[in-house]
Amino acid sequence: MTPAALITGWGYYVPPKVLTNADLEAMVQTSDAWIYERTGIRERHIVEGDEVTSGMATKAAKEALGRAKVKGEDLDAIIIATTSPDYFLPTAACLVQESLGARKAAVFDLGAACAGFVYGLAIARGLVASGAARKILLVGAETISRFIDWTDRATCVLFGDGAGAVVIEASAAGAGIQSTALHGDGRQKRHLRLEGGGALHPAARRGDDGASDFIQMNGPEVFKLAVPAMADAAKEALAQAGLRLEDVDLFVPHQANARIIEAVAKRLGLDRSKVFIDIDRFGNTSAASIPIALCDAVAQGRVRKGDTLVFAAFGGGMTWGAAVVEWSSPKR
Ligand code: ACO
Repeated sequence: MTPAALITGWGYYVPPKVLTNADLEAMVQTSDAWIYERTGIRERHIVEGDEVTSGMATKAAKEALGRAKVKGEDLDAIIIATTSPDYFLPTAACLVQESLGARKAAVFDLGAACAGFVYGLAIARGLVASGAARKILLVGAETISRFIDWTDRATCVLFGDGAGAVVIEASAAGAGIQSTALHGDGRQKRHLRLEGGGALHPAARRGDDGASDFIQMNGPEVFKLAVPAMADAAKEALAQAGLRLEDVDLFVPHQANARIIEAVAKRLGLDRSKVFIDIDRFGNTSAASIPIALCDAVAQGRVRKGDTLVFAAFGGGMTWGAAVVEWSSPKR
């Protein structure tokens, strides 16, 4: 029988420094009222000094491994979903592997922007189903603050840093990741991009080549694309799992913007009580946002054994997707 892929551990980490909307008022022409009304964000956490993606990922991973009672050396694979790794080489996954002593793990970074965690769930499920791995660490970790133009009020108010991790284990039980739906559309790439530093515009050759080292975004276009894409992916993943919208106990979407989440929930006909939002405290942490929200939801007692959870995300590329998970208890 094909083994199921269970989430047996979870953990998150955000850097201690908090940047409030009031702090941003002193940096750009904006206001707490504008930011909160348009995005639902009150504050976000931002890295300082040398603590960036792999360091945050390691801290989140240690919490998740502890909860799952899995040792680093027992991991078969480490997947870090990130658009903001410490380096191109070594990957963040290699750095996390070293920190955890996960000697036998296959290690790679996964680049699917804000949808990276959902993509990672699909890959982890496939590795488990094929028998290629039995214990997997999946982390969404981002240091987006280093790629933000802090004079651009249209983007700098939106993002935060952090990491969220899950341990995924093969099990004979039927719970766990039930289905995933993944999509992309490169034709829309212009609406959200980070072009500087890649092979076309490498740092060593930078003159006035027109490429920006900062995230550039057409917010209203991203908004318009994200809402139907997230809603349709959620429906698709539910249908694949043989479930209906009425079966959803908690919708834990990518925390891009509270208005996007509310519009997706409305499209799906989900009651607000079934939608988890914590963007007020973390901002948009890209690939880290769903696992951070999951940890938060569990800590708040919003997730019980047997619950049907739906994750949905949309991000640059464009990339999007959804996953359905039947929640199982942590191991005793
Ligand atoms: N403070 C005050 N005013 C601002 C700010 C700010 N921080 N940013 C923009 N404005 C101004 C604009 O200049 C504009 O002024 P104008 O009318 O004089 O030209 C006005 O506010 C309205 O701007 P819009 O961009 O039309 O505002 P909108 O209601 O679309 O909200 C926002 C902007 C919040 C970016 C929204 O479009 C959004 O959230 N889009 C999704 C983007 C997103 O989530 N990206 C994350 C990455 S992808 C993802 O995670 C899904």
